[in-house]
Amino acid sequence: MFSLKNFSKIHSFASCVPSIQMSNKDFESIVETTDQWIVERTGIKNRYMCTPDEDSLTLAVKTTRETIARSGLDVSQISGIIVGTSSSRHVFPGLGCMLLGELGIKGFAFDLQAACSGFVYASHIGRQFIENNSAEHILLLGVDVISRVLDWNDRKTCILFGDGAGSAILSASEHPSILYSMIGAEPDQELSLTVSSPWANKHGHHKIQMDGPKVFKRAVGCLSSCVTTLLEKTGLPPSAIDIVIPHQANGRILQAVAERTPIPLNKYYQCLERYGNTSAASIPLAYVDAEKEGLIQVGMNVMTIAFGGGMTFGGSVFNVLS
Ligand code: UT7
Repeated sequence: MFSLKNFSKIHSFASCVPSIQMSNKDFESIVETTDQWIVERTGIKNRYMCTPDEDSLTLAVKTTRETIARSGLDVSQISGIIVGTSSSRHVFPGLGCMLLGELGIKGFAFDLQAACSGFVYASHIGRQFIENNSAEHILLLGVDVISRVLDWNDRKTCILFGDGAGSAILSASEHPSILYSMIGAEPDQELSLTVSSPWANKHGHHKIQMDGPKVFKRAVGCLSSCVTTLLEKTGLPPSAIDIVIPHQANGRILQAVAERTPIPLNKYYQCLERYGNTSAASIPLAYVDAEKEGLIQVGMNVMTIAFGGGMTFGGSVFNVLS
């Protein structure tokens, strides 16, 4: 049906954050920490968290409505929704199914759980539908509300995360836009980054637990290999990548990745000082801010790279089409 359009393009990004703003200073009265430690060790200064009335669905509705408006599409043209999230309001129905009703979309919907790599996973999987002619437009969403699973007594984790949502449309295209995308996973046998589900046995921990230094090392390794693979597979020289939109977990992770790979740190867009680590929302949230700052324009080559619990990782290189 869409045989002239064998490529995928990603467009119409939007994002939102919830209402409660928390600065590093606010944490000084909650746990034994300082603004200086958080800034020096992570680069984070601020983050947003949900009020009791907000959650992943309220954020999802807001950002996806904006994405659809920006795309100029009618909801009847959208074939389905793919949501990268670990924070669906219900275990079932999934967030994607809830959104179908909210937005009036008639199509498929599913949530996928790849932690902080959720948006990159969603776009890579969405491409498969587009490029085998099963869909012409798919709504992509990355949303997480990690504040609900924070241990407010654990200074090693509670200062890192914020809530947020980001969305985009993946459409069939006559011209190549996504030049390459990839997803991958490795076991985390030591459970160095976990939150237990409601079905866990008695050993479950329902708040986030992380061995920061171990996760840091694995993040650097996985993200560095994403950069190398994306350059190899696209055949592009590092100078042809105009901007890198990385998962925003820690500025020192990005510095270490840049030192190990041929794309310099000044091409890595960073907004973690404003939002902290927003998990599956972090890449679309960063993309929107970079676009607003005029750093992303038609014709540019954008690289995305993500890493998260699982361990999951992935990335893409795409040329921005109008
Ligand atoms: O998005 C998913 C993936 N997540 C990540 O990629 C996060 C990866 N990990 C990290 O970003 C870093 O490991 C952290 C930011 C979590 C921690 O930084 P670090 O430099 O690895 O610190 P550390 O855990 O090795 O702790 C160093 C010291 C410890 O004190 P002692 O034992 O040396 O006395 C900690 O207790 O810093 C202490 N510390 C803190 N001090 C003040 C840990 N957290 C804090 C804090 N404030 N919030």
